Amino acid sequence: MVGKTRNIDDLVGRMTLAEKLGQLTMTSASYAVTGPVIAGDSTESIRNGNLGNLLNLVGAQHVHEMQRIAVEESRLGIPLLMGFDVIHGHRTIFPVPLAEAATFDPQIWELTAREAARETAADGLALTFAPMLDVSRDLRWGRTVEGPGEDPWLAVEIARAKVRGFQGADLSSPESVAATAKHFCAYGPVTGGRDYASVDISERTLREVHLPGFAAAVRAGVAAIMPAFTELGGIPLTMHKPLLRDYLRGELGFDGVIVSDYNAIRELIYHGVAGDIVDAAVLALKAGVDIDMMAEAYRNGLPVALERGLVTREEIDECVWRVLRLKERLGLFDDPYGRGSRAEPAETIAARRRIAREVAVKSLVLAKNSTGVLPLIEGARRVCVLGPLADAWREMRGPWAAAGYEQPSVTVLAGLRDALTGTSVVHADGVPIAAADVSGIGAAVELVTSDTDVVILCLGEAAEMSGEAASRAHPELPGEQRAFTDAVLERARREHVPVVAVLFCGRPLIVPWLMERADAVLIAWFPGTEAGNAIADVMTGRVSPSGRTPITWPRGLGQVPLFYSQRSSGRPENPQDHFTSKYLDSPSSPLLPFGFGLTYGRFVYANLAVSPDTVTAEGAVEVTVDVANEGARVAEETVFLFIRDRVASVARPTLELKGTAKIVLDPGTTGKVRFTLPAAELRFLGLDFEPVLEPGEIEIRVGPCADPAQLMSARLTLQA
Ligand code: NOJ
Repeated sequence: MVGKTRNIDDLVGRMTLAEKLGQLTMTSASYAVTGPVIAGDSTESIRNGNLGNLLNLVGAQHVHEMQRIAVEESRLGIPLLMGFDVIHGHRTIFPVPLAEAATFDPQIWELTAREAARETAADGLALTFAPMLDVSRDLRWGRTVEGPGEDPWLAVEIARAKVRGFQGADLSSPESVAATAKHFCAYGPVTGGRDYASVDISERTLREVHLPGFAAAVRAGVAAIMPAFTELGGIPLTMHKPLLRDYLRGELGFDGVIVSDYNAIRELIYHGVAGDIVDAAVLALKAGVDIDMMAEAYRNGLPVALERGLVTREEIDECVWRVLRLKERLGLFDDPYGRGSRAEPAETIAARRRIAREVAVKSLVLAKNSTGVLPLIEGARRVCVLGPLADAWREMRGPWAAAGYEQPSVTVLAGLRDALTGTSVVHADGVPIAAADVSGIGAAVELVTSDTDVVILCLGEAAEMSGEAASRAHPELPGEQRAFTDAVLERARREHVPVVAVLFCGRPLIVPWLMERADAVLIAWFPGTEAGNAIADVMTGRVSPSGRTPITWPRGLGQVPLFYSQRSSGRPENPQDHFTSKYLDSPSSPLLPFGFGLTYGRFVYANLAVSPDTVTAEGAVEVTVDVANEGARVAEETVFLFIRDRVASVARPTLELKGTAKIVLDPGTTGKVRFTLPAAELRFLGLDFEPVLEPGEIEIRVGPCADPAQLMSARLTLQA
C-alpha cells in the first residue's frame, strides 16, 4: 500500500471526501491540552481513514502505535502527521525563547532547535508548532516569553536559525521535524496586552515590524505556518485572504501547509464573522487554511458547503495535496516509523544537558553590578539563598516546557550548593510566589546575619504567569515579594551584607525600586533544565555574563509600549520646552534599554570607521570599531550596529538595528569588530510601501546597546 501512494495526484484521485477531510483535520491526543477538547477518541477515525493528523501525543511507542493503525489498518494507508509544541526544548528544556533571544547568537538559536528536533523526532514526532515569531512591545502580553522580543531584525535572524535548526538540511531525515512559523501575524500588539484581544495597527507597522520574521521563515523554507487567533482590523487571521492568500502564498510564494490554531476556525463564529460552522469552514478554506486544528469545522462544515456550492472539490483537493506533499517531504510515506525507531544514547542526552547549561549561561542578563559584588568572592563563608524562586525546580523550566515536565531542573539553591563547596549555604523561601502569606518573612530575614557574605534573593513570576492566556495588568513582583524584599534589603543594609537579586520572569517586570536598591540584579528569565548550574557558573565567575535584553525594560507601565526604534516626533523631547514629547510624571527613558547587559569586563569603544564612506545601491560598506577590555576579567562583548536615516520620504525610526557581533577579550587587550553592511539593508518601504533606496546621508551608530548616549556615530553617503 505504501509504495502505491507515491504519486500524490493519483492518491488524491482515489480518496473519498471523508478521507480528504480527514487529511485536513488535526485533533488532540490529549497529552497536553491548550483549549477545549472536542475531538473525543481518535483511534477509530484514524482506522477509518477519517483523521490524518494528531497533536499532543508523545512517546515513540504511542506515536508508532497510532501510526501503525493509520498505515496498516486504514484503507489507503496514509501515514499520520503528528505535531507537538516544542517551544524551548522537548525533553531537555532550554531557556525560554525570550531568554534565548538574549544570547544574540544565531549559532545558539540554530543549535537548540536542532537538538530539540532530534529529541522530538526521537519521540516519533515529525512536526512542531515553533518557532513563534511574534514581535512584542507590550510586556503585559504573556506570550512575550515565547517570542523574539521587540525587534524585527532579531525576529528575522531567529526565524532563519530556527527553521534551519528544526528542519535541518534534509526534512526527511529521522532527526528533522517540520517547523511551523507562528502566529501569523501581528499577534503581539493585542489591545491592552490582553491575550486574544483585537489588533489594530498601521500598514507600515505591519509590514516593517510584524511581517519580516515570517517572510524570513518562508525564505528559509519553513514547512508550515499557523495563523494567529487574533483579528487584525476586523479580519481574523484564520480567514485573512489578503494576508494568507495574496501575501503569503502570492507575494512570498509559500507553498507549504497552513495549519489553523487550536479551534480557531470555530472561533470565527465568536469573532462575529461566521454565522455557523459551515460559514467558518468556508471562510478558512477560501483563505487557504489547509489543516483545521481542533475545530471539527472541515469535517462537519465542508460537506454541507460543498453541497451548497460554497466551495469546490478543487479547493479541497488543493489543501489535501499540500498536506500529503508535506508528509512525503517528511519521508513519512517511505518510512512512517523512521522517527523514534531507536532510543537516543545516554551520551547524546548528557551532551545535550551540557548544551542546555551553556545556553542558559549565555541567556542571563546582568542588569546591575554596582558594587562589583559579582562574581562572588572566593572562599565565602556564609551565603543566604532566599526567596520563593530559590528552590523551585518546576518554575525553572518556564512556561510550556513541552514533554520535559517530569525532568527535575537544577534549582539556584542546588546549583550554588554544588558550586560553593566549603561555604555554608542557608536557605528560606520567605514568602510564596504569589499567595498573600507573610508568615515566613521574619524567620527568613533572621538568616541574614552579620557574618553573611552575600544574600542571593530569588524573586519573580511563577512559570505559568507568562505564556498563553497569561497577560498581566500589573507586571510587578507578585504576592508579598515586595514586602519580603523590603525586609531583606533593610536587614542586609543594617548588617552590611550585599544583596544580589535574581529575577525569574517571562517578560520585563516593573521593578525600578529593586534596580535602585539591590547591589546587583541578574535577569535569569526562565533558564530551563540547567538553571541553577548556569546561574552558579555566572555568580562564581566561571563565565562572564554576556546576555543582552531583547526587549526594553520600562520604569513604569505608563510608558508601555516602549521600544527603542520609535520615530522622533515633530516635537522631540526637550526638558526645557514644555510642548515636547514627554511625561509630566516620569522620565521617557527606559529602566534598561534594548540590548543592555553588563559583563565582568569593562569595554571601551574607539575608532568607529565606515569604509568606503560612500556607497551605491549595489555596494556594501565595512563598519569597524575597536573594542578594548579595560576590566580585570576575560569577557564577551556584544556590539550593536544601528542606522538612522535622518531625512527620508517617510519618517524613519531614530535607531534601526542592522547587525550584532561578538568579541571575547582578555583583560588589557583590544580587538577590532567588523560588520558588512550592504546598501540593500538601507532600503525601507516608501510612501507606497514599495522598497526604496533614497540617496543621502545615513548615520551609522555602534555601541553596547540602544541607549543613544552610549553609541558612537559615523556618516555614510548613499549615492543614486
Ligand atoms: C494554541 C497556541 O496558540 C498555539 O501556539 C499552539 O501551537 C496550539 N495551541 C497547539 O497547542
